[in-house]
Order: sequence, then structure tokens, then C-alpha cells
Amino acid sequence: MKSFTLFTSALVAFASTVSAAGVTGAAEGFAKGVTGGGSAAAVYPSTTDELVSYLGDSKPRVIILNKTFDFRGTEGTTSAKGCSPWGTGSLCQQAIDKDGWCENYESSAPKVSSLTYDKAGMIGITVNSNKSLVGQGSKGIIKGKGLRMANGVKNVIIQNIAITDLNPHYVWGGDAITLAGTDMIWIDHVTTQRIARQHIVLGESASGRVTISNCDIDGSSSWSATCDGRHYWALYFTGSNDMITFKGNYIHHTSGRSPKVQGNTILHAVNNYWYDIDSKGHAFELGQGGYVLAEGNKFQNVNVIIEAGATGKYFTVPGSGSPCSSFIGRNCQSNAFGSSGLFSSADTSFLGNFKGKNIASAAAASSVSTANVGYGKI
Ligand SMILES: *[C@@H]1O[C@H](CO)[C@@H](O)[C@H](O)[C@H]1NC(C)=O
Ligand SMILES: *[C@@H]1O[C@H](CO)[C@@H](O)[C@H](O)[C@H]1NC(C)=O
Repeated sequence: MKSFTLFTSALVAFASTVSAAGVTGAAEGFAKGVTGGGSAAAVYPSTTDELVSYLGDSKPRVIILNKTFDFRGTEGTTSAKGCSPWGTGSLCQQAIDKDGWCENYESSAPKVSSLTYDKAGMIGITVNSNKSLVGQGSKGIIKGKGLRMANGVKNVIIQNIAITDLNPHYVWGGDAITLAGTDMIWIDHVTTQRIARQHIVLGESASGRVTISNCDIDGSSSWSATCDGRHYWALYFTGSNDMITFKGNYIHHTSGRSPKVQGNTILHAVNNYWYDIDSKGHAFELGQGGYVLAEGNKFQNVNVIIEAGATGKYFTVPGSGSPCSSFIGRNCQSNAFGSSGLFSSADTSFLGNFKGKNIASAAAASSVSTANVGYGKI
């Protein structure tokens, strides 16, 4: 009996090291097969400089975080003029005048003579290809600076960390996770809180195959563009050739762009939980070139699930799930709604885009829970 137990636990250990050392489980959906740093020996950065160096060098790496890396102050501060597009109330975000934004887009907004912000937040840490960045228990926290994958970076796993406190007073003060020209990226069990602008941004260039799973997108903040404790800028998916599996995430206390989808983006939104989205705002903003298959999700207290005037296409399983089977090889799951607005579209005209791809499984919306979401849970 004893030797049998040893045998099975050895098998389990083996199975988890096949995909990627240090990483728990494997990506489902579009980024299935991502290996990150593969079997590279684990490294444990002890300073912010060391973390930056491991993430940016050209070696495959498994980088384990067992402490907080606080970047605030590491690059100094800047004082510059800005504006107050949403008023000067204590709950309102103000805006840094990035690239003349205050003049070009908010010309009528009151100008602010001097905002002081932390420079580290402005641009994320460069992450190169073939990296696994994994937090240990609930210890892996990066404060004051995000992560940036760009210009052809491929094969990255980010798991079980929190990214927090990027200039939360000021729009344009930094994004938590940026993808701009990537392929095969897996973001799993990541918590983002108190961010200046986007929690996760997949910008205009092609982000390729991406899986975002079990993340806690926490929009609670003392400063927001809607001046009500809920962050407006959460998930921005506007790439030119993006396939995003978005599964098992918790998106809450936001007031807009959660997500914004357009460009040329296929989004499979499955088994997520949207909760308490500001009644003045919305969850989905869906523009031209955004294609959304939404199934098995739970919406609670989301007054406006999709902003009026959507020009993208979406399918929400309004009736039977069977229309999915010829495209993804199985029926779709219905979405569930509690004290929430309408989210209903029977348009299957775009589902051919999902054919032949790695598609995440779906459970019934009734089984969606937040118990295992965010960092510190694996
Ligand atoms: C990442 O790994 C792949 C496959 O081993 C390799 O071809 C590529 O050059 C690596 N990239 C970097 C930046 O090391
Ligand atoms: C992190 O883990 C490494 C390797 O086990 C160890 O040397 C280091 O002391 C740990 N750091 C903290 C803060 O626990």
C-alpha cells in the first residue's frame, strides 16, 4: 500500500513538471501548449534589479517570487501638468497629460498645474520570451510597476502573483500587464489592484494566442474616472490579430471597459464572474472587429452588461447551446444573470473563427465561484 502511494505521488510530480517547472497545471484554450521557462532551474530574485534582469535577459527562466518587490521610488518621481476631466472631487482620478492627451481629448477639462507621480509605474518591466514568473504561496507581489511583453515576445507564463499600486490617482500612470506584439502568453491566478490605467491591455499590434484564467481583476479604488470607487479602465483587448481565452476570472467593482473588445480580436469568455459593475458604466464595450463567444458566465449586479451601440459581433447562447457544436465540437453553456441587464445575441455568423482551434472547456454558470480566483490560491 505504501509503495503504491509513493508511486502515484511520483507520477503526479512528473506530470506537473512536464508542462513547466514551478508552474501549476497547464493553459487551456488558445495558449494551450505554452511552456514558459520550461525545465530551467528556478531562480529567486532578491532585489527589484535582479527581478528586472531575470525577466529581461535572453535565457529561458523559471523565476519564483517569494517576497514583495516594491518598485515605487526606484526611478524617482516627476511633477508635470495634467487635467481633471472628471472633476476635482476626492474620489476622482486626475489625468497625466501624456502625449498631449489633456489638450487633444479633454480640452475643456480643468488643467492641473502640477501632478506628482511615480516614474516606475509608467512603463512595465520588459519580459522576454521563454519565462515563467511564478509566486510562492501568497508571497509574490509586485508593487508600483507592471509587466510588458512586446515586439515578438513568445511563450510566457505569469502565475500566482499580484500587481498593485501603480499611480492609482492618475490615469496614464501605468498599466499592470501589457501585451503588444506577442504570441502564446498565459496569465493565470493573477490579482491586479489599484492601477492607474488598464489592468490588462492587449494593444493595437497582434497579441496572438493568449489565455487569461482565474485572475482577480479588482477595480476597487479610492480614485476613479467615475468618482465612485470603481475603476473605469480594466481590460482593453483591441489587437490586430488576437485570440483570447478568458476563463474563470473575477471582474468586479469596475465601471467600464471590462473588457473593451475591437480591432481583430476573437474572445472566448467562459465561466467568468462579473460582479458589481457601476450602474453608470458597463462591462463590455464591443467595437468593430471584436468577436465574442460568451458562455457559462455569471453576471451579478451588472446593470449594463454591454454598452449600447455595439458594432462587433457576439453570441451569448440565448436559447439552446447546440448552435455551438458545429464550430467548437460541443454545446455551449448558458450564461446566468442576477439583478443584471440584457446580454442577448443569437448571431453565430462569426463562430467559424473558432473552428479547429484549442477551445477551453465550459462548466455550467451555476458552478462559477470566486473561491479559487486570484493569487495565493494555488
Ligand atoms: C525561446 O525558445 C525557443 C524554442 O527553444 C527558441 O527558438 C527562441 O530563440 C527562444 N527565445 C529567446 C528570446 O531566447
Ligand atoms: C526565497 O527562496 C530562496 C530559495 O529557497 C531563499 O534563499 C530566500 O531566502 C527566500 N527569500 C525569502 C524572503 O523568503
